[in-house]
Amino acid sequence: MTSRFTLDHRLPDDYFTTTLRADVLQGLTAPTRSLPPKWFYDARGSELFEQITHLPEYYPTRAEQEILTRYAPEIAAATRARSLIELGSGSSRKTRLLLDALTAAGTLERYVPLDVSDSALVQAGEALCRDYPSLRVAATVTDFEHELPVTDEPGPRLLSFLGSTLGNLDTAQRAAFYGILRRALSADDTLLLGVDLVKDPEVLVAAYDDSQGVTAEFNKNVLQVLDRELDADFDPDAFDHVALWNAEAERIEMHLRSRTDQTVKIPPLDLSVDFAEGEHLRTEISVKFRREALEAELAGAGFTIRRWWTDSRERFALLLAVPSR
Ligand code: SAH
Ligand code: TRP
Repeated sequence: MTSRFTLDHRLPDDYFTTTLRADVLQGLTAPTRSLPPKWFYDARGSELFEQITHLPEYYPTRAEQEILTRYAPEIAAATRARSLIELGSGSSRKTRLLLDALTAAGTLERYVPLDVSDSALVQAGEALCRDYPSLRVAATVTDFEHELPVTDEPGPRLLSFLGSTLGNLDTAQRAAFYGILRRALSADDTLLLGVDLVKDPEVLVAAYDDSQGVTAEFNKNVLQVLDRELDADFDPDAFDHVALWNAEAERIEMHLRSRTDQTVKIPPLDLSVDFAEGEHLRTEISVKFRREALEAELAGAGFTIRRWWTDSRERFALLLAVPSR
């Protein structure tokens, strides 16, 4: 690893115990059982997500890639960014299109990927330092719902949030997140946001329930995280993967459905959780967006949309927004 790569750990030492415990206690004792999605992404989860992005059914990655391929030069020209900050960067694979365009424009100095997954950051950072010989990569392990530790990057800064990860937050969580984002951005910074759009539910459900079962394995991986970190005794094979379209909320939901009557123990929480056969545990939401509603939501949070692009089949949108005056 070269000196052009740095990895800053911003999560408190007890993050995987204290925060995970609080999330699990709250989520499993609520009337509708759920778990927050950030716990999917241990090393195995990050690897499985990368596999998901290559699945024939999972169109969002390819649709977003198509838009980035076409408009990255325009994004580079419009922003003249010296720093590219990316939230939930994962493998940073699509980001290469932005790095290429910003390098060609001659403005880029620093790439700042932020993610909860240190394994994803290390892998992506190694590959990027190899392929971009003059780029500095300053990676940070952090939870973007908690803080955005961006202060000393040279401006103008481009802050990208791709892959429709925004949709994994509900309305209240998005509002809180926009607040953090708005405080982090200065007047000459730009937000680049990738969001999946409302479409035929059959296409949507297939994207979250692939025929090879990779998404099912990804979904069940969260149980293995709880078994390892909290000494829980979930049997992943005792649950079925379910992906469904919630038409009212216009979102995909991923659930785990208990195959039998069973009791799961989580010793550090002194918790026994009974699951009846067929009972659901919600593990993920993926909100699908419409332009007008998103524009209004962003305006309410202090952002003005400057550009809006979609792929040729209008499945996915990429937008540039700036802090409103
Ligand atoms: N941007 C990539 C990866 C999307 S998957 C793409 O478009 O393909 C979502 C990514 O966000 C994962 O890498 C996950 O580890 C990260 N992530 C999820 N919740 C997070 C949080 N609260 N804080 C920081 N990173 C988070
Ligand atoms: N941001 C991605 C999305 O909502 C995350 C994702 C894709 C995902 N497939 C998943 C999360 C399956 C959980 C399970 O599309």
